[in-house]
Amino acid sequence: MSEAIEEIIRAWDDQQAAYISNREQRFEIMLDVIAHVCDDSESFGSDGAGLTVLDLACGPGSLSQRILDRFPAVTVIGVDYDPVLLELASAWLGKRHGARFTPVDADLAAPGWEALLPQGVHVAVSSTALHWLEPAQLVALYSTLGRVLPEDGVFLDADHLRYDPTVQPLLTALAAADDERTQGAAHARGVQTWDEWWADAVTLPSLAVHSAARARRFADRPPTPHAPLELHLSALRTAGFAETGVIWRLYDDVVILGRR
Ligand SMILES: C[S@@+](CC[C@H](N)C(=O)[O-])C[C@H]1O[C@@H](n2cnc3c(N)ncnc32)[C@H](O)[C@@H]1O
Repeated sequence: MSEAIEEIIRAWDDQQAAYISNREQRFEIMLDVIAHVCDDSESFGSDGAGLTVLDLACGPGSLSQRILDRFPAVTVIGVDYDPVLLELASAWLGKRHGARFTPVDADLAAPGWEALLPQGVHVAVSSTALHWLEPAQLVALYSTLGRVLPEDGVFLDADHLRYDPTVQPLLTALAAADDERTQGAAHARGVQTWDEWWADAVTLPSLAVHSAARARRFADRPPTPHAPLELHLSALRTAGFAETGVIWRLYDDVVILGRR
């Protein structure tokens, strides 16, 4: 694996952790749930044998990598619509984990994306991504997951689910202060911002070739309106998830669980 790719991945983790104060702890609890799913079923080994996890909007593969590392026999499918980040995930995880990682180029906002999945999945996860979807697209995605996941299949989503500043002004201020502290400390020690990371990443020729396609694909996507926690939970219930709840949170940073 090229050192440049490894360095870009390390820098991605650092820049993301600047926006998410407990990113590793947030990943860890998701991995613990997957361990429980494996231990609780005769169909899966505790090493993830027999289990396929779908990583929605996987980006360069941060969560996929942690799942593949912890469960040495698991299979992961990573879906993303950004050709630069998907290329990064393929290069990095393909080299590190071979055929246990399959990248899928698909737009989660477009109906029918699930037809591109190469095989059935048992668990679906996502981190720091679904806020990119408009509420109606999110509801459609959850409806699709309700069909794609088997009975008892688990969905886990880690994301910033913003408070409503009109009725939750103190919570909004506390969350903003936590964000500011985390970003301030990281940027003061030289961690890249999102824009700086992107400026660096696309200097790598294997990523630069996908830059124009990336710009085209995301050109028509305005900032999305906020989908609150209650919308996520009720959309999951409507989609057929029997059990829904929050398994971790720090202010507005939340990990949601849904069980089909
Ligand atoms: C902040 S990144 C998070 C990546 C990774 N999950 C992580 O935790 O580091 C958000 C990701 O969502 C992806 N994304 C946004 N809209 C998407 C869509 N409509 N379909 C698929 N992926 C999308 C972006 O391309 C990007 O990879």
